[in-house]
Amino acid sequence: MKKLSFIVLLAAAMPVFADRMPLPADTPASFRNECGSCHLAYPPALLAAADWQRTMAGLKDHFGSDASAGTQAEREIADFLARHAGSANKLGSAGSPPRISQTERFTRKHREVPARYWRDPRVKSAANCEACHRDAANGRFSEHDIAIAELRR
Ligand code: HEC
Ligand code: HEC
Repeated sequence: MKKLSFIVLLAAAMPVFADRMPLPADTPASFRNECGSCHLAYPPALLAAADWQRTMAGLKDHFGSDASAGTQAEREIADFLARHAGSANKLGSAGSPPRISQTERFTRKHREVPARYWRDPRVKSAANCEACHRDAANGRFSEHDIAIAELRR
């Protein structure tokens, strides 16, 4: 068992950022069920409206998976994402296909995370928020809620 001692001393130097992003009260069940079945139901504010649109338009071939959810659910989800999308200016480019983990804001926020944590097999992907943010399902992304110690098995 490899021990991962963790950082988190960086907090004091960090500028203020939204570290609490619970899903909005009007989140449709379809979003939780469809978009939360393979990964975290990501907070809608972490991508800009145009990037959510692109994501929703490409669900048939979604990162190698078929994530289509049916016309009605997809429309409901798309409307929801449009209502709560983040600011394109603040987030920066999300790449193509759009990824929260490719936005300039994400990169900036994670600049101090040592490379070995991204490479850890228990993290696998930057999209796997819960590997590090143990309470991500409740929208908590504070540096105080990070427990890489939780990665210990
Ligand atoms: C069948 C499984 C599946 C479903 C259902 C699914 N996704 Fe995904 N999604 C994936 C996979 C696989 C990835 C790539 C994960 C990785 O790179 O580790 C991904 C990645 C993403 C990313 C990029 C994550 C990042 O920042 O790197 C977004 C945004 C996303 N999905 C949104 C959605 C939305 C919105 C829905 C609902 C309409 C949805 N997903 C439903 C499988 C799914
Ligand atoms: C390898 C571990 C790891 C993964 C995976 C990860 N994060 Fe983080 N994240 C961190 C750490 C550590 C910090 C605190 C950075 C700091 O304070 O310097 C952080 C900070 C943040 C912040 C800023 C919080 C604040 O207080 O300002 C947000 C928002 C965030 N992460 C969201 C996400 C999202 C969304 C995902 C998935 C798409 C994700 N993170 C994936 C480790 C991770």
